[in-house]
Amino acid sequence: MKKQGIKIAPSILSADFAKMGEEVRALKACGADMVHCDVMDGVFVNNITFGLKMVEDIRKYTDLPLDCHLMIVHPEKYVERFAKAGADVITVHYEACQDNLKEVLLLIKSTGVKCGAVINPDTPVAKIKDVIPLCDMVLVMSVFPGFGGQKFIPSALEKLREIRAIIEESGKDIDLQIDGGVTEENVGEIKAAGANVIVAGSAVFKASDRAAVIAKLKE
Ligand code: DX5
Ligand code: ZN
Repeated sequence: MKKQGIKIAPSILSADFAKMGEEVRALKACGADMVHCDVMDGVFVNNITFGLKMVEDIRKYTDLPLDCHLMIVHPEKYVERFAKAGADVITVHYEACQDNLKEVLLLIKSTGVKCGAVINPDTPVAKIKDVIPLCDMVLVMSVFPGFGGQKFIPSALEKLREIRAIIEESGKDIDLQIDGGVTEENVGEIKAAGANVIVAGSAVFKASDRAAVIAKLKE
């Protein structure tokens, strides 16, 4: 097994959008390992956030990897432009791609960017099992996507264990990410279940000492 360290990916969904450049710049000094960019279209999810221009602009404020979580319909239409805008990782939902998931993952890879598959809380691991070996990262949603600050859905833990076993079996170096409702209280069981990339939105951005929270999530 390849041992991966824990990486923290603060979600800028909970940042101050009016100060985004500075919010993103400050993350590195706080110990963040990636910047999680939640792209929402108001169709795939019931909220609208930001798109290509935001990714392109924040690219100038950090050299941390930009982890773009696309919560949009027809993500394949935008993959090349997100890659060009500066994404380092692009993750797409099984629920948005369905039978085309493999093709979309290969399209992402063809742009030179890392690719990942995402499943919602009501989608079983079986739906993505075959494509896991193609992924650089697999993302398990522990809330229904759309908003920050929701409560962690515990059934995600079993999915993490299941996917971690598949990753081990593949012998590949694949990250396993969790997104939604992560706190200092539940991060221990999340890591024990096999996640090594931890998205945290409100836990980081609502804290008065962001560096302290990131350090606690990582330890
Ligand atoms: C939810 C987003 C998450 C969200 C997490 O739709 O995908 O990335 O920002 O926020 P918290 O950590 O507050 O649940
Ligand atoms: Zn996200």
